[in-house]
Amino acid sequence: MLLKNTLSDIKNEYSFIETFLYDRWISPAITNAKNEIFSPETMLNKIQNKGHALDVGCGGGQLALALHELRPDLNIKGIDLSYHQVNRAKNRTLNIKDIDISYGNALEIPFPDNSFDFVYSIASIKHWKSRRQGVEECLRVLKNDGTLMIMDAMKGSSDEDISNFVELTKIPSFIKNKWKKVFKHKVCKPSLDINEIHSLMNDLTVENYELLRVDSSPSFQLIIKP
Ligand SMILES: C[S@@+](CC[C@H](N)C(=O)[O-])C[C@H]1O[C@@H](n2cnc3c(N)ncnc32)[C@H](O)[C@@H]1O
Repeated sequence: MLLKNTLSDIKNEYSFIETFLYDRWISPAITNAKNEIFSPETMLNKIQNKGHALDVGCGGGQLALALHELRPDLNIKGIDLSYHQVNRAKNRTLNIKDIDISYGNALEIPFPDNSFDFVYSIASIKHWKSRRQGVEECLRVLKNDGTLMIMDAMKGSSDEDISNFVELTKIPSFIKNKWKKVFKHKVCKPSLDINEIHSLMNDLTVENYELLRVDSSPSFQLIIKP
């Protein structure tokens, strides 16, 4: 029943139970990633000294916290559309003055133009009601010499790559195989594939970008330097 009702429409706001399970089971696999293309450490290569970063769809704030632990000079703002996740992220980062979490929609980012050196969004774009508007908003708040990184699950990922990712999560072993199917049909399938991302870049007339598949992982990484 729980699996059946989970993520029935990827563009709906997360329920309390979905945020709870995501926070406990899935997010640690992202924060602890050690992939050559993606890990908290490799993300920091994109950020200049004393950077101002924005985490769009920050969830429970684990990644913002991991980045800040590695680079305490960073100032990180995080926004999320779920009040449950905003509360978790605020509690998790309560004593850190350089992390500031607030409620906010990727489609109407509540910051002025040219505010951030680095804008990143991990595992969130598949949920956005308009992916185009969300990317436009990320680019609007990015400084001219800044970097935007967007990552998410990729439509059409292989069963092997999906399995690799699910094995990294804290999903209890006895339901991992069921979750591999949930991940394939309810997470990867409604997300984007490589061709759709190229079309999106074309629609937005973005030329200076790099699009990668993350090794052995069911995800893509898009880096834009406008
Ligand atoms: C799969 S979670 C990823 C959370 C976090 N980035 C991480 O990697 O652990 C997706 C998050 O995106 C948020 N989200 C979905 N649509 C959004 C939107 N339009 N604006 C901001 N956040 C959104 C959800 O509430 C959820 O917390």
